[in-house]
Amino acid sequence: MEGRMFNFSAGPAVLPLPVLKKAQEELLLYPGAGASVMEISHRSKAFAGILERAKADMKALLGIPDNYHVLFCPGGATLQFTMLAMNFLGGKSADYIMSGSWASKAAGEAKKFGTARPAWSGKDENYVRMPKSSELSLDPDAAYVHFTSNETIQGTEFFTEPETGGVPLICDASSDFMSRPLPIEKYAMIYAGAQKNIGPSGMAAVILRNDLLERVPQGLPSILDYKVVVENDSLYNTPSTFTIYIIGLVAQWLREEIGGLDKIAEINRAKAGLIYDVIDNSGGFYRGHAQTDCRSLMNITFRLPDEAMEKEFIAQATAAGLDGLKGHRSVGGCRASIYNAMPVAGCQALAEFMKEYQKKKG
Ligand SMILES: Cc1ncc(COP(=O)(O)O)c(C=O)c1O
Repeated sequence: MEGRMFNFSAGPAVLPLPVLKKAQEELLLYPGAGASVMEISHRSKAFAGILERAKADMKALLGIPDNYHVLFCPGGATLQFTMLAMNFLGGKSADYIMSGSWASKAAGEAKKFGTARPAWSGKDENYVRMPKSSELSLDPDAAYVHFTSNETIQGTEFFTEPETGGVPLICDASSDFMSRPLPIEKYAMIYAGAQKNIGPSGMAAVILRNDLLERVPQGLPSILDYKVVVENDSLYNTPSTFTIYIIGLVAQWLREEIGGLDKIAEINRAKAGLIYDVIDNSGGFYRGHAQTDCRSLMNITFRLPDEAMEKEFIAQATAAGLDGLKGHRSVGGCRASIYNAMPVAGCQALAEFMKEYQKKKG
């Protein structure tokens, strides 16, 4: 669509154009509701249908077994850092895999409710990789093991789950959620802030195994109690109904237009390959941050020969219609976030731009 840039922002991030068009079509009048989705009760029949469909599509896409709940919680992934610790840590100790900035933030919040014991830390290596299971030092009595499947800032990703020897596994999948199939049975809980791969900002999708609810202590604030969230089907308070509606449209797009998570995973590998190939064949002009076997298919982090050149590269890219390539303020450099909704054409355009820029400067 004219005027829309290729948006490489880490989040809020690009959404599928067909989803935005559908939302535009239905903005004034949601079929059968006589009003916009934003204007109808969260307890109305029309919204009940939207919520049910969103959950059903997510269940079908990920193959979520019946003993798991699909929940929508306010406050994004950051509130999940707190909420999961309030619900499942309660003065005990949990193991945190310290793989980067987001894992550190998750552990920082958990420490307020018990012990967040580092099971591994990549800090001394500047967070260039994810650990192998054999490197983890795990406490068999831990309340849970927490890991971050994709470190959005460093651009590193786990491609297999850490082995925990039966300790419940909890995953912050904010930046690679629904980008590929997952063996859900290996997880006790998966959560993801919506604004990267599945919708607008402000909510988190949570997949929670039913037996975990037995661990929830009495007396938590109602809105932060997973039992209350489950009992009220994510409608204890008024949720961001519009966000849930868009998440539903994204799930529908993944099922009906893309053809499922195997398909999107294949597309995502090809898209990332286009950009990593340029980095790998640049003779060191572009330097990827992550170790090759751990590099993220969602957030590609790289440096140029110096900071002045990085600044110029980012400015020229924006002028060429490639927006949002500035790395996170804590690490600098460049970052191309290429979530599910980034079209192949966007990655091709960036790869071409990178080659041209190197030709001029290299
Ligand atoms: C991996 C990861 N975890 C957590 C967060 C925090 O999410 P939110 O801003 O939705 O609280 C983000 C990004 O914002 C993230 O990339």
